[in-house]
Amino acid sequence: MPRRLTAFALAPWIVACGGATAASPSAVGEPNGATSASPTPAAADSAHPAAGPVTLLDRIGGRRVLSAVVDELLVDVFADNRINKFFEGTRRDATRTKALRDSLFVLLCSRTGGADCGPAATRSLAETHASMPIAPAHVDAFLEDVRIALAVNHVDGALRDEVIASIADVKAQIAKESVK
Ligand code: HEM
Repeated sequence: MPRRLTAFALAPWIVACGGATAASPSAVGEPNGATSASPTPAAADSAHPAAGPVTLLDRIGGRRVLSAVVDELLVDVFADNRINKFFEGTRRDATRTKALRDSLFVLLCSRTGGADCGPAATRSLAETHASMPIAPAHVDAFLEDVRIALAVNHVDGALRDEVIASIADVKAQIAKESVK
């Protein structure tokens, strides 16, 4: 299991990045400035009755929950000694941390069926990760951290599987089989 940092230890970073801990989701910022009125799956169903099909994003609790998930994911990734060396420069730079947080939010929001999630990345994920010696096991560790961040935010197991499935293709785009 990855080594975990406490929210207390990371509180200054979280405040600096405009994010929030899972315990205070009302303070969560999102890249497009949107906030969710759908903190629970049940509320998601009833809050937007005419807004089209219920998406995976709705079912995990909407943007507010996803925002808290991304905050937790960064805490977990930065503390995960299987992969955190890749993120050393990011962790030390609040601007880069905020940019990564926003990019992950946009990616997960759009992959889970969200609309108007924020500006899409200008580079593909393959390009972004091309120079990094990422092994398949590194991606598995990252995905495990995504799963943990969802669990911490009370997303149930079946929905966790669906979120992971929505980004599973990234492994083939960024992992190098030659790296062990
Ligand atoms: C499914 C797995 C992954 C997804 C969905 C993902 C997604 C992303 C996204 C969206 C960005 C920002 C790209 C941009 O803004 O243009 C990013 C950047 C980055 N990713 Fe990944 N990533 C994954 C796995 C990994 C792994 C396994 C590593 C290393 C072990 C890694 C290391 C990095 C680093 C170092 C950056 C740059 C951060 C910075 O700009 O400071 N990623 N990733």
